[in-house]
Amino acid sequence: MAPRVSCFLLAVLFSASCRVITSLDWMCSEKEANKTYNCENLDLREIPDTLPDTTEFLEFSFNFLPTIQNTTFSRLTNLIFLDLTRCQINWVHEDSFQSHPQLDTIVLTGNPLIFMAETSLNGPKSLKHLFLIQTGISSLDFIPTHNLENLESLYLGSNHISSIKFPESFPTQNLKVLDFQNNAIHYLSREDINVLKQATNLSLNFNGNDIKGIEPGAFHSKVFQSLNFGGTLNLSVILNGLRNSTTQSLWLGTYQELDDQGLTSAMFEGLCEMSVESINLQQHHFSGLSSTTFRCFTGVQELDLTATHLDRLPSGIEGLSSLKKLVLNVNHFDQLCQINAASFPSLTDLYIKGNVRKLDLGAGCLEKLENLQKLDLSHSDIEASDCCNLQLKNLRHLQYLNLSHNEPLGLQSQAFKECPRLELLDLAFTHLRVNAPQSPFQNLHFLQVLNLSHCLLDISNQHLLAGLPNLRHLNLQSNSFQERSIPETNLLQTVGSLEILILSSCDLHSIDQQAFHSLGKMSHVDLSHNSLPGNSIDALSHLKGIYLNLATNRISVIPPHLLPVLSQQSIINLSHNPLDCTCSNIHFITWYKENLHKFEGSEETTCANPPSLRGVKLSDVELSCGITAVGMFFLVVFLFLLTILLIFSVKHLLRWKYQHI
Ligand SMILES: *[C@@H]1O[C@H](CO)[C@@H](O)[C@H](O)[C@H]1NC(C)=O
Ligand SMILES: *[C@@H]1O[C@H](CO)[C@@H](O)[C@H](O)[C@H]1NC(C)=O
Ligand SMILES: *[C@@H]1O[C@H](CO)[C@@H](O)[C@H](O)[C@H]1NC(C)=O
Ligand SMILES: *[C@@H]1O[C@H](CO)[C@@H](O)[C@H](O)[C@H]1NC(C)=O
Ligand SMILES: *[C@@H]1O[C@H](CO)[C@@H](O)[C@H](O)[C@H]1NC(C)=O
Ligand SMILES: *[C@@H]1O[C@H](CO)[C@@H](O)[C@H](O)[C@H]1NC(C)=O
Ligand SMILES: *[C@@H]1O[C@H](CO)[C@@H](O)[C@H](O)[C@H]1NC(C)=O
Ligand SMILES: *[C@@H]1O[C@H](CO)[C@@H](O)[C@H](O)[C@H]1NC(C)=O
Repeated sequence: MAPRVSCFLLAVLFSASCRVITSLDWMCSEKEANKTYNCENLDLREIPDTLPDTTEFLEFSFNFLPTIQNTTFSRLTNLIFLDLTRCQINWVHEDSFQSHPQLDTIVLTGNPLIFMAETSLNGPKSLKHLFLIQTGISSLDFIPTHNLENLESLYLGSNHISSIKFPESFPTQNLKVLDFQNNAIHYLSREDINVLKQATNLSLNFNGNDIKGIEPGAFHSKVFQSLNFGGTLNLSVILNGLRNSTTQSLWLGTYQELDDQGLTSAMFEGLCEMSVESINLQQHHFSGLSSTTFRCFTGVQELDLTATHLDRLPSGIEGLSSLKKLVLNVNHFDQLCQINAASFPSLTDLYIKGNVRKLDLGAGCLEKLENLQKLDLSHSDIEASDCCNLQLKNLRHLQYLNLSHNEPLGLQSQAFKECPRLELLDLAFTHLRVNAPQSPFQNLHFLQVLNLSHCLLDISNQHLLAGLPNLRHLNLQSNSFQERSIPETNLLQTVGSLEILILSSCDLHSIDQQAFHSLGKMSHVDLSHNSLPGNSIDALSHLKGIYLNLATNRISVIPPHLLPVLSQQSIINLSHNPLDCTCSNIHFITWYKENLHKFEGSEETTCANPPSLRGVKLSDVELSCGITAVGMFFLVVFLFLLTILLIFSVKHLLRWKYQHI
């Protein structure tokens, strides 16, 4: 009441300051007691008194702090991380962080900085990360150089910087990340790059700057972790400029389609004289792609050609013979053989995801890729009436196969015989037609993860999962069992090593008590989104310590004899069930309240019956299940009549006995 009254009085006097006082009443939210607080967007003009002195991580964005001084945060001496995004900061005064020896990250993103004192960042023993994104900086001279000896990352994106020339005194020796995204840098000189020579393992980002020139030799003998020149259209400029440099990864992708002149062999000349492990060229066009285009890629191990408008790769490509990873996502192949896989025989990872056209797998198109371990063919409109032995011929070392989100595939028995070392097989969202009585997955001795969700499979076939001795993770979400029930004999009997089983949205109405008896190692069972009643819990009676999800089923009453089955599990989700909150369920409700720590989603674990309690949280229900007054009256009358009857019969019996003596 008091703050409201004072607010009212103040509002009459100075209506502007009223808002400040009320806003102090708004609470910062606590993420971790005494340590992590979020005070975002509370219109605060100072650090609220409610924040403990021990605060270490403070999110303070979207407040109002036009000037920062040594007093602004002086109370919070334990600060490690301070986010001041968009606080309308203009001035950062001397020694603003002098009482924060542990501070390692300051985020000043989105503040219209006018002035930062030379000693404004003094104080922290080891300031590591400084974010000055969108602060209106146009020259690196603006950044105070004092106390940045330990700086590891400096983010300067979306400013007006045109030259990356750091002052000589700028300590660059520990820099790992230097981010100049979306500035106005058009030219890189030798001198500019030389200042960075002390930084080893630097990731340098020029994404979204239209670089038009690099002084010859600027990158001579320089070594980088990564270089990003994304959005540059004339790659000759970049690759010539990078001659004689070494970098782990080089990002040259583009975003917009606009006047891309097309990549030519000549543009890549510079690559012959530099050392790069991984190159990304996403969204460029190639003009005149030929077998010599990649001539200078001999040292490259990873090549990303996502969305480069390819409909084929020429045969006999030079330069890619030691390539390990190739990404060909979102291209326009009609047939898998059009990638001419023989050009990159060392490949271990191949991604052809989201192909724009319907992809025909052909026959043996990848057979030269003997070392292939990972193959992603998801979202590629693949259809095959008899998959996959012919198509995946000779992929002896394949461990990961993703065929999810494709068109119908027909599977015969032992459909993956050509890939005997598969460990993960993802067929989710691909309609499967199993044409054989035996298992299509037979003999995948190493298979650990099988995703068959949304495959429209008839999972009543008991042999479907035969021959998978090491399967640990099985997802059968959104498939259906005959008669909406898992019978005693079922496909799970052959996969005793299972640890994670997902049977959500399988339209199940019942589970036989013995249905899971061969599954002894389970740790996670998801039966959510079915129509199971309370007694289906009986099927889990032999399992202990599992995570059990029974959310969104038809459970109303849980009989007392099943409570021990629930007691022995570790986490249970019973949310969104039509739970009965009458005396017929009193045992369960009492037990539930004593075991709340076992339940997740208790906010949504509510009563459906009786109507007067509908929507009430189960944990809030108070039931008294004694006998009511009316009941008591009838009981008394009943006992009274019974006594009279008894007396009469005894009398009668005695009389009868005496008459017969
Ligand atoms: C937070 O600080 C208060 C007061 O210093 C202390 O009583 C409490 O135990 C602390 N809580 C945690 C989780 O450290
Ligand atoms: C802030 O700086 C002023 C002088 O610039 C000094 O007098 C004052 O003691 C400092 N305050 C704190 C909290 O250190
Ligand atoms: C270089 O940086 C990358 C990521 O920035 C890191 O993973 C790698 O370990 C670093 N290498 C060395 C030698 O410091
Ligand atoms: C690309 O840059 C090179 C110089 O590195 C220049 O010779 C060439 O003409 C440029 N190409 C186009 C299309 O502007
Ligand atoms: C860079 O040039 C020097 C000599 O100018 C040469 O010794 C070195 O091998 C070259 N490095 C690369 C990566 O080409
Ligand atoms: C398979 O691909 C789909 C779609 O690209 C993706 O969502 C899924 O995570 C992938 N599966 C695995 C196991 O990585
Ligand atoms: C299939 O299941 C695996 C394992 O849970 C998961 O990593 C993958 O993302 C799933 N695939 C799809 C398409 O969701
Ligand atoms: C309980 O399970 C449902 C269905 O899987 C899920 O949506 C919900 O997030 C779970 N609750 C919690 C607290 O994890």
